[in-house]
Amino acid sequence: MLQATLNARSPFDSLMEITSRPPVVFVQGRGSWLRDTTGKDYLDFIQGWAVNCLGHCPDVLTKAITAQASQLLNCSPSYYNAPMIKLADLIAQRSGLHKTFFTNSGAEAIEGAIKLARKWGKKNRNGGFEIITMDHGFHGRTLAAMAASGKAQWETLFEPKVPGFPKVPLNDLAAVEKAITPKTVAVMLEPIQGEAGVFVATDEFLQGLRKLANKHGILLILDEIQTGIGRTGTFFGFEHAGVMPDIMVLAKGLGGGLPIGALVAHEDVCCFDHGDQGGTFNGNAFMAAVGCAVLEEVGKVGFLQQVTQTGIYLTAHLEALSAKHGCGGVRGKGLLLALDLKRNIGSAVAAEAFKNGVLINAPRPDSLRFMPALNVSQAEVDQMIGALDKALKAVG
Ligand SMILES: Cc1ncc(COP(=O)(O)O)c(C=O)c1O
Repeated sequence: MLQATLNARSPFDSLMEITSRPPVVFVQGRGSWLRDTTGKDYLDFIQGWAVNCLGHCPDVLTKAITAQASQLLNCSPSYYNAPMIKLADLIAQRSGLHKTFFTNSGAEAIEGAIKLARKWGKKNRNGGFEIITMDHGFHGRTLAAMAASGKAQWETLFEPKVPGFPKVPLNDLAAVEKAITPKTVAVMLEPIQGEAGVFVATDEFLQGLRKLANKHGILLILDEIQTGIGRTGTFFGFEHAGVMPDIMVLAKGLGGGLPIGALVAHEDVCCFDHGDQGGTFNGNAFMAAVGCAVLEEVGKVGFLQQVTQTGIYLTAHLEALSAKHGCGGVRGKGLLLALDLKRNIGSAVAAEAFKNGVLINAPRPDSLRFMPALNVSQAEVDQMIGALDKALKAVG
């Protein structure tokens, strides 16, 4: 009976339903392109939600993966391994922050940042534990990360909530200062709110937050999970504002498509005692070797300039398309961009583009988001713009 029921199911039925997916199965990826089981090719401007920073299956990662796979995978986080030391060192050199704890995802790194800030608050802020976060911010899907996020749809989900995350509007410095109490230990935000639809924290806001944090003796935590590793044209998003966080959180681009995250902090803040933090996969040699290969590639001379130039090129073409179809402005930096559609046609346009073999994301009903591989070519941008032009015409 059970076997008969199983036989009658569609090929997708064994997967838990967590989102709406088109009935297409991808089997191959190369650079900015994906191929499905029927041989149809798709131009990918989502790239695993901004994780494949070097595109699909880049040679540099295939080589690093192959070499490390026959060398050492995991010797337990209770021991040092060579790639973990090298990657932590590369992050320290690039960021100016001293110490890293590796995780397996962005949300786990956020959890680590919350734990570190609370521990620091226990020692330095008289038991303070509150972390001020932003309306519409996104920090991941574990319980504390959800509580820290400002997503309206999550307001009453999975209650009771983890307490201690008062919210303020993005770019409202006065609201942040008003929200600071003796219980506050930190302010946490994304330099650009990606999931919310690409809303930029202004340089003045970030600089103001740094000053406020210094004045009140609290920490500044930047969630660079989406903006880090070259996405905005600088290695880290905070470089645009010239502001150093006390704690920074990385993931997505760090693994070039594979799961690794990082909790990175100034040495003065690193107050974990043995046993406070850990995890059996954390800092494994395999993933750390992949992270090293990504950082070396993104750190090559000219790589970030190319990201900036392609971002300018994509922005100009989106603006031209916007003028043609009566849309609004382009938001974002580097290759994390959004187009304001001025009407709620985002999902319809993304679905139409998908039919024509282009993957784009609609993070809000009235916006499209673009997060291609950082090495996407101008010819591929032209192709995507052509497909988007057609999709906007079809949807109206
Ligand atoms: C800014 C930000 N923080 C945290 C996360 C959560 O990362 P992960 O999905 O790796 O848990 C994301 C994922 O989209 C993100 O964009």
